[in-house]
Amino acid sequence: MEEIKVGIIGCGGIAQNAHIPGYQRIEGVKVVACCDVVESVAKSTAEKFSIPRYYTDYSKMLKDEDLDAVSVCTPNALHKEPTIMALEKGVHVLVEKPIALNAEEGAAMVRAARKAGRILIVGFQERFNPSGLIIKKFVEKGDLGWIHYNRATYLRRRGVPTWGVFLNKELQGGGALIDVGVHALDLAMYLQGFKKPVSVLGRAYTLFGKNKEAAEANAWGAWDTEKFDVDDNAFAVVRLEDDSFLVLETSWASHIKSQVVFNVNLRGTLGGAQLDPLEVYMDRNGVAVDMTPISHIKPDWREQSYIKMKKFIESIKAGKPLYAPGEEGVIVQSIIDAIYRSTETGKMEPVRIPL
Ligand SMILES: NC(=O)c1ccc[n+]([C@@H]2O[C@H](COP(=O)([O-])OP(=O)(O)OC[C@H]3O[C@@H](n4cnc5c(N)ncnc54)[C@H](O)[C@@H]3O)[C@@H](O)[C@H]2O)c1
Repeated sequence: MEEIKVGIIGCGGIAQNAHIPGYQRIEGVKVVACCDVVESVAKSTAEKFSIPRYYTDYSKMLKDEDLDAVSVCTPNALHKEPTIMALEKGVHVLVEKPIALNAEEGAAMVRAARKAGRILIVGFQERFNPSGLIIKKFVEKGDLGWIHYNRATYLRRRGVPTWGVFLNKELQGGGALIDVGVHALDLAMYLQGFKKPVSVLGRAYTLFGKNKEAAEANAWGAWDTEKFDVDDNAFAVVRLEDDSFLVLETSWASHIKSQVVFNVNLRGTLGGAQLDPLEVYMDRNGVAVDMTPISHIKPDWREQSYIKMKKFIESIKAGKPLYAPGEEGVIVQSIIDAIYRSTETGKMEPVRIPL
């Protein structure tokens, strides 16, 4: 195959820290153009990474450039439109997480990918968490038996992102749940084998957003407590099609010992597993045994992000998504939507997931 030409839509944090440097490490791939509505950002990104051309309008970039693929790295409310436009032009898409503002938008993106016969992948780099990949081997061999309980955790003590538009409900669709909860949820679902979610009882709360003392203690500088209107904590119980349960807990701010807890705990009828620290629990010869798989690779955000770009390019070559297809992004998003819906109803009954 000839050189794969990539364009970048949205030149902010994730584009500059993960996507562009990731693509530039892959042989046979060239980032030929980048686009940002803020011209100074588009221009400085092009200069910093030696990208030949820059744009302020992605429809112009998609029209003028002969692209094979794009990364969509815009705020969540701006995932759907450029993704569908790119797919309709025959361009493969790696869209940042979450797939979109809601599952309905995500489903429209998936339909566009199917119609165009192009790849749509969601940028979940935790799929390449080395400890997760080890747990996945045990699950796939059946070593854990029937996984009846799955706990997904992404908690921060004081980690409210105060840069960019993370606190803008209109552009992001929510707070901690849609921003970081989505990573733990996706990984937990993936490790368990993506069982279809049936119903959700959940709550998304704003517990710290109005608290000035908490804001001052934030790791990334104080946020504006007057304007804070997104969730900073969310909890949910998800019932899956095989009668198992997934429990999610996520926060940007919480009274916990560590600054960050990222974990998945799987409990099966034959064994259990935990992501961090990586451990597997089983019975052997009538004895309960703790196993510590030896991982030669440590979890590393940058390296996992590089792998996600590399696997996206490999997917294009293979003609099929090799991880996190748009369809799975929609399932994850449908759980998030249901948690927000469950919060709005305020009722104690679970809400159904229309999948
Ligand atoms: N995978 C991860 O771990 C991870 C980490 C951070 C962010 N993200 C996701 O990446 C996306 C972007 O986040 P970020 O942190 O880079 O945000 P950011 O605010 O730093 O960057 C977004 C950029 O998009 C630009 N933009 C806005 N509208 C545009 C348009 N119509 N056309 C072109 N450019 C436009 C903005 O000017 C900005 O430069 C979000 O969906 C976020 O959830 C993923």
